[in-house]
Amino acid sequence: MRIVSGIQPTGRLHLGNWLGAIRNWVRMQNALEPGGQAFFFIADLHAITVPHDPAELRRATREIAAALIAAGIDPQRSVLFNQAQVAEHAELAWVLSCTARMGWLNRMTQFKEKSGKDREGASVGLFTYPVLQAADVLVYKATHVPVGEDQKQHLELARDIAIKFNTDMGVELFVPPEPIIPPETPRIRSLRDGTAKMSKSDPSDQSRINLTDTPDAIRQKIRRAKTDPEPLPAAAAGLEGRPEAQNLVGILAALTGRSADSVCAEFAGQGFAALKPVLADALVAELAPVSERLRMLLAEPERIDAVLAEGAARARAVAARTLAEVHAAVGFLKP
Ligand code: TRP
Repeated sequence: MRIVSGIQPTGRLHLGNWLGAIRNWVRMQNALEPGGQAFFFIADLHAITVPHDPAELRRATREIAAALIAAGIDPQRSVLFNQAQVAEHAELAWVLSCTARMGWLNRMTQFKEKSGKDREGASVGLFTYPVLQAADVLVYKATHVPVGEDQKQHLELARDIAIKFNTDMGVELFVPPEPIIPPETPRIRSLRDGTAKMSKSDPSDQSRINLTDTPDAIRQKIRRAKTDPEPLPAAAAGLEGRPEAQNLVGILAALTGRSADSVCAEFAGQGFAALKPVLADALVAELAPVSERLRMLLAEPERIDAVLAEGAARARAVAARTLAEVHAAVGFLKP
């Protein structure tokens, strides 16, 4: 088993990133069988497909690296690096862009969403983004790729590209990777408005739990979180039409590994004054050790950079072998 996954360095990390990706990566690393390998990278090449600020990209890249280490990604056991330091990703992306078909990319829903009404003004990189993502996993011959539901289509494209390349060149070089989609991570909503996503770009810091928040800040944000005046229902179905209640129950369920039904059953008939302190305790118990380590690591950026450089060297060693096979398969002359 070889796991490969990437996360984009955009914005500040919050509870949504924690429950959606980071926590799962740590679990997967820790569940690897002997001989299994995990490659985790920060997708800085993907981050420049939309307008960006260089200083902010550097900051976000270090913050994610630090958060992953703080969360338990062990840079000895897993290969942790930023994508731009391993040039083979971009090199393979070029070759694979000659395998992928325009028609395939035209069907990608994320490009349609991200480019919106201004398709003509979108970068070419945003359009070919899924080809780079295919290169990210194929360059390591990943067997499994943990991703969110929204990345399923990109993974299917990676499989199609792998199969077409092998067929066209008459080789068995690439391994079509399997996605691993975590069973139902609830969509984490803003603490101020249950109909909006918890987002790094919300102007109100009260709307989100940041991974760098102190326990006091977490407790205060939960105390102030928007609710409604109704008591909690006996089952999750009763949360319909109550987005704030659904959000808080969903967060507690995800944190404690229970179903929303079981959380509702525990608090049935009680108000949020009962649920909120339990939720705050669960958040602090899970996040406080991580955010403390994270704050310490962020004070030593040179250490983070050194870890990433070492990870990149290990990644390059594997990626370079695949590229040598690719060069031979497509007919590039050897030096
Ligand atoms: N596109 C992914 C996202 O936005 C990030 C990503 C880039 C990725 N390359 C990848 C995920 C390779 C898995 C494998 O979430």
